[in-house]
Amino acid sequence: MTNPFYLSTPIYYVNDVPHIGYAYTTVATDALARYRRMMGDEVFFLTGTDEHGQKVEKSAALQGISPRELADRVVGRYQTLWQEMTISNDDFIRTTEVRHKEAVQHLWKIVEEKGDIYLGEYEDWYCTPCETFLTDHQLVNGACPDCGRKPERLKEESYFFRMSRYGDRLLDFYEKHPDFVQPLARRNEIVQFIRGGLRDLSISRTTFSWGIPVPGNPKHVIYVWFDALTNYLSALGYPSNRERFEAFWPARVHVIGKDILRFHAVYWPTFLMAAGLPLPKQVFSHGWWTVDGEKMSKSKGNVVDPGAMIRQYGADPFRYFLLREVPFGLDGDFSEKALVGRFNADLANDLGNLFSRVTTMLNKYCGGKVVRTGEGGELQSRAEAVLAAVDRHMGNLAFHLALQEIWGLINAANRFVDRQAPWTLAKDPGRRDELDAVMYHLVETLRLVTLLISPVMPETAKKCAALLGMGEKDFRKEALVWGKLSDGMEIPRAEPLFPRREKKPVSSVPKREVTKPKRAQGKDLLSIEEFGRLDLRSGVVREAEPVPKSDRLLRLKVDTGDPEPRQVVAGVAGSYSPDDLVGREVVVVCNLKPAKICGVESCGMILAVEGKDGLALVGFDESVGPGKKVR
Ligand code: MSP
Repeated sequence: MTNPFYLSTPIYYVNDVPHIGYAYTTVATDALARYRRMMGDEVFFLTGTDEHGQKVEKSAALQGISPRELADRVVGRYQTLWQEMTISNDDFIRTTEVRHKEAVQHLWKIVEEKGDIYLGEYEDWYCTPCETFLTDHQLVNGACPDCGRKPERLKEESYFFRMSRYGDRLLDFYEKHPDFVQPLARRNEIVQFIRGGLRDLSISRTTFSWGIPVPGNPKHVIYVWFDALTNYLSALGYPSNRERFEAFWPARVHVIGKDILRFHAVYWPTFLMAAGLPLPKQVFSHGWWTVDGEKMSKSKGNVVDPGAMIRQYGADPFRYFLLREVPFGLDGDFSEKALVGRFNADLANDLGNLFSRVTTMLNKYCGGKVVRTGEGGELQSRAEAVLAAVDRHMGNLAFHLALQEIWGLINAANRFVDRQAPWTLAKDPGRRDELDAVMYHLVETLRLVTLLISPVMPETAKKCAALLGMGEKDFRKEALVWGKLSDGMEIPRAEPLFPRREKKPVSSVPKREVTKPKRAQGKDLLSIEEFGRLDLRSGVVREAEPVPKSDRLLRLKVDTGDPEPRQVVAGVAGSYSPDDLVGREVVVVCNLKPAKICGVESCGMILAVEGKDGLALVGFDESVGPGKKVR
């Protein structure tokens, strides 16, 4: 195999339902998997569920069902969510599968034959929610340092793994592989921990039975972390499918959250050393999400359900937000308001607007056809720099930086449109070549942006690709160079990619103060002649774009039946995107005194009312066309 790239998420516990934390690890790993596939690697992307252990057994008992039933139920929820989030995993491993049980027992036997497993007696504190034994000095005020709950005192016969033997070898490995744990700060913590001395590890339990039996002594079940970590081998067909195993192992990267780093960066490498297997190339530990500044917890009722976010905003915007908002590796805070903010600013305004204005202009001024022109130009050099930077950042799992680069290119293209003003070039037949070159550079930028966003926003990329006449085969390394857009290609106008959302989440929109209209009396009443002076007409919006430096205003070109479209500035940007408005029929007050609003001249007013979620435009029951008198 030329470029194998094996990457994994942790396997998720089935005593909890999927929340944003799990979605985060999975989306990040998926984005990396998709990027590596596009770059031509042989990717094997694994996720799955961790189904054994006392926690699951207890949880099932509380619900009056068997652990197996509980697992089956929750696994279905994970699998559905991953589908909804367009996760492209190549396998899904469940620790209750036979293939997994065989691998775990095999690994156990090998380590045992090596003399690294012995039977002893264990007495210590045990934190059931975390499935971890704790020593006196690890407790914080008598409680578990991770979850803050009181541990139980446990004394039992137990098998031990001679982890103490591997401290020096592990330190040596860390020295030789400085990139093994990322980010660096976390690596240093782990090295300190190993330097403090490794103790032998208890790796079996007799106090419950929901687990994989120890070979030769079924009174014991295998410790859930020895069981769970082995999933990374069992999914490759270890030990029976040597060919496949050798093709992909060692894993290129295990993506995990910071809370489970020690298991992956200390326990797992020492198990593998004992079994004589190569160690993974990297463990990347990301940070944790809080919600509106607080730790997520069921009791606080602030657990973010990824399913609800997807239904509200779509999978791609949610994926984009998770990876853009917070540097991968650091902690971050989730708020729906921030998600809506990014949706409107980055997706509707920057990305969506670029696609619609470029394809609209191509159709309006060039009959929808691209004319291939020479190399060079500012967009080309910018795009080439961005391609290189994105590759570097994806190599470091710095998704936020990769996205920042891509948006740098999108914004450069938006500015290029403003500066080159294709609408002016189009007026002068002598500048046709210039116009063609500008449009070629813009559409070529759209093509590259489509490829670059595809790992994070696969569905949007598919839509954009269809528009640009690209198929699946075009998502590959060779296409990631400037100048691959064919001459004469016909491109239709883009439908709006991301219709704008309300600024605030629906759930927290404060009630609007609605002032009741007063009934006019006496001299306030309007005569029919006075009303007749109003030039109210139907209009069709032909162009719409944001007014720079204003959140509220859009500059519209409205066809009101006059020879030239009329420019109107409307304060509707909080409720409508420019894309929503183009083609829309509106009511226009045409004989309003022209005024300058934010430096832009406005010759008329569009009628709207205060609706449920913002402004709602006044319209017609049927399509009437431009320039009809409203009476
Ligand atoms: N079953 C173990 C992993 C075994 S891997 C061999 C486990 N499961 S878990 O379901 O509790 O957690 C899975 C992942 O979700 C972890 O990487 C964890 O860091 C991540 N997250 C859980 N809550 C999180 C947040 N609030 N924020 C970000 N990630 C979080 O541990």
